[in-house]
Amino acid sequence: MTQKNCYILGIESSCDDTAAAVINNGIILSNVVATQAIHEQYGGVVPELASRAHQQNIVPVVHQALHTANIDKKELSAIAFTRGPGLMGSLLVGTSFSKSLAMGLGIPLIDVNHMQAHILAHFIKAEGQIAPNFPFLAMTISGGHTQIVKVTDYFEMEVIGQTIDDAVGEAFDKSAKILGLPYPGGPLVDKYAQKGNPKAFKFPKPKVGPMDFSFSGLKTSVLYFVEKQVNQNPDFISENIEDICASIQFTIVDYLMDKLKNAVKETGIKEIAIGGGVSANSGIRNALKEAENKYGWKTHIPKFEFCTDNAAMIAIVGELKYKNKSFAENNVVASARMKF
Ligand code: KG4
Ligand code: ZN
Repeated sequence: MTQKNCYILGIESSCDDTAAAVINNGIILSNVVATQAIHEQYGGVVPELASRAHQQNIVPVVHQALHTANIDKKELSAIAFTRGPGLMGSLLVGTSFSKSLAMGLGIPLIDVNHMQAHILAHFIKAEGQIAPNFPFLAMTISGGHTQIVKVTDYFEMEVIGQTIDDAVGEAFDKSAKILGLPYPGGPLVDKYAQKGNPKAFKFPKPKVGPMDFSFSGLKTSVLYFVEKQVNQNPDFISENIEDICASIQFTIVDYLMDKLKNAVKETGIKEIAIGGGVSANSGIRNALKEAENKYGWKTHIPKFEFCTDNAAMIAIVGELKYKNKSFAENNVVASARMKF
């Protein structure tokens, strides 16, 4: 079969997004995501509810992906699915569904590492998206992940820095919650931050390894700071929301940039690819642009729909593995703590 007629269905169910996508020769024909709104009222993802919602959503989402791509399931060449890391109950839904579909259609099954997929999303062919050159540094920043990876080839990746506690998206969301903003508060912090003074308030930057991250202390210092101020002035938050958000965002972005600078120094690699939901943040986008001019870095941020959890990134990895005939056995199991 020529590559031209190779259609891979990607399925993602590692956390709270049920997603399916079809890829053909690097081009995404459909990219469907059902985001589970049920978690909003709990202020975070509830694993039990997530698995249940995946089970509800997976068939309609796959149907929609095939329909939008305008292909029949019999035309599929392989099924690629997220094997891990992620929430076990969520992963089991996608894994079992993918196994059954591949078996029913008599086509290969391809297991995908979600973290590798965030990075390889940069190789999707899309307008305005230029694939990075090897070697490059990938920084994946979202509500579930914060890591810096040295990428020497498609499947040669080494984690050189990661969070020892919360993910950066959690730092945004938990700070937002302290300020009374709804979940997930990251985009709102960003919105207010754009009108505030980033130097208005100072928050400490936690000290860990040069390329590692820690965010739990930041959340605590925001909490103590806000409590103290509100004791003196009950309207402190509403009167200063823009400056508070700008100061929190400045601290986080500066911290991310410190870590990237350390990684560039350590590896000598100046090409940087960003992924994950937090890459939407205006602060990090501006800081990266500035670093291009100031330090000669080359930076990449994929289209936003390929940054957040999605199945297009699973499909591109599926396609890369399909070319190498790197297929999964039928007894493959989901892996909540899957490593590279
Ligand atoms: O990749 P994603 O959609 O899902 C996972 O966490 O896997 O990322 C969601 C995270 C949330 O924590 C959300 O608050 C954060 O990304 N986020 C932002 C922005 N947009 C999304 N954080 C800061 N600024 C933004 N503009
Ligand atoms: Zn993710």
